[in-house]
Amino acid sequence: MERIKRATFGGKISAVLVAAGSAVGLGNIWRFPYLAGENGGGAFLLIYLLCILLMGIPLMIAEFSIGAATRQNAVGAYRSLSKRWGVIGYIGILTSVLIMGFYLVVAGWTAEYTIHSFTSDLVQQSDINYHKAAFEAFITNPWKPILYTVLFALATHAIIVLGVKRGIERASKVMMPLLFLFLIVLAIHSMLMPGGMEGVRFFLEPDFSKVTPSSVLAALGQAFFSLSIGLGTMITYASYFAPKTRVQQTALEVSLLDSVVAVLAGLMVFPAVFSAGIEPQSGPSLVFITLPSIFSSMPLSQLWSSLFFLLLVMAALTSTISMHEAITAYVEEEWHVSRRAASWLGTTATTTIGIFASLSLGALSHWTLGGLNIFDSLDFLTANILLPLGGLLTCLFVGWVFDRKLFARQLYPEGRIGASYPIVRFLIRYCAPVVITAIFLDNLGVI
Ligand code: TRP
Repeated sequence: MERIKRATFGGKISAVLVAAGSAVGLGNIWRFPYLAGENGGGAFLLIYLLCILLMGIPLMIAEFSIGAATRQNAVGAYRSLSKRWGVIGYIGILTSVLIMGFYLVVAGWTAEYTIHSFTSDLVQQSDINYHKAAFEAFITNPWKPILYTVLFALATHAIIVLGVKRGIERASKVMMPLLFLFLIVLAIHSMLMPGGMEGVRFFLEPDFSKVTPSSVLAALGQAFFSLSIGLGTMITYASYFAPKTRVQQTALEVSLLDSVVAVLAGLMVFPAVFSAGIEPQSGPSLVFITLPSIFSSMPLSQLWSSLFFLLLVMAALTSTISMHEAITAYVEEEWHVSRRAASWLGTTATTTIGIFASLSLGALSHWTLGGLNIFDSLDFLTANILLPLGGLLTCLFVGWVFDRKLFARQLYPEGRIGASYPIVRFLIRYCAPVVITAIFLDNLGVI
């Protein structure tokens, strides 16, 4: 079979920035703070960081090594290594479509909030109840959020059709430092607000009485979600790495950047939440209600909120691009169609799911699965079940099936096995599979 000629990223720094572009997204700034708020703050942060260290980083190394070794899309990569394990690739593509479906909806909200920040209607009033009502009216509106979902999908599509190389690499180099800078400024501002320290305490002091089996599963799912692992996105990106890209170092750097952004997001959100006297458990709406209300009471409110939501849009965009790329590369290479046709298929499939996810917050809220509407079901099913399952299978595959020499060659391209090898191997072969399984069983009430 003829191999499609593939692009490669510029080099080491590009690999880190592009992978970090995928990892850093709504998961860090929107999802992480509200999950931490719902699951007891500091204890959740600690369990989350442990999950990153013990399972997230090894898994990212595993996915990178599969992509670098095979230089193919997720399905092709698994299939070329083992017929039977090809199924992991398919689970990954399916999960990408589902995640991107509801992710596009939230990304659309950030686009709408950016526009209303620019026009300054968002920051006219600092009353929290005003913002709560405005947000609820917006997301339950039958057509407005859908319009933004579709626009966001089309923006992602445009970049995918152009090819990932130039656009994303350059955009990431500009945006990632800006994102950092802005988060730091906002976090400091937030911590200095009256009553802000109470929020810092909530976020950093672990209270283990709040920890339940489901909060441990939520932390695990969030770790995978935030690092973009468990469904082959990082396999696809690693298939574009320049030869000699250091797989382990890249995984470490990407995970570190991602965790720092999550912690900064917590330090930005919780002090503000406590200062404004809002419940930290208010769920997915946390960032969309509290931050606009806080911005409104700041001098230069329009500037702050515009920059914040614009950066959120860009963070989301580099993540939707990565999910779309995983889908597009699969369709293009496995179905032998043009990149353009493959992109359209990906855009259509994910947008369709996005439309239903959006409607499920208003008109279709009576369509439920186990008490959850479509939007919440997609979130729960993908992050709490499919990602950890994909991660478990990936670890089993890389630890027990993937040729050991081929794996070692990806980790140490210069040939000498380093000191990290036995640790990484132990984490992938034993630690991660056992812990993921235990967390699953714990949630099912088996242990
Ligand atoms: N990591 C991104 C975020 O935190 C979301 C994301 C992009 C993702 N690609 C993924 C999640 C692949 C799971 C799998 O916002």
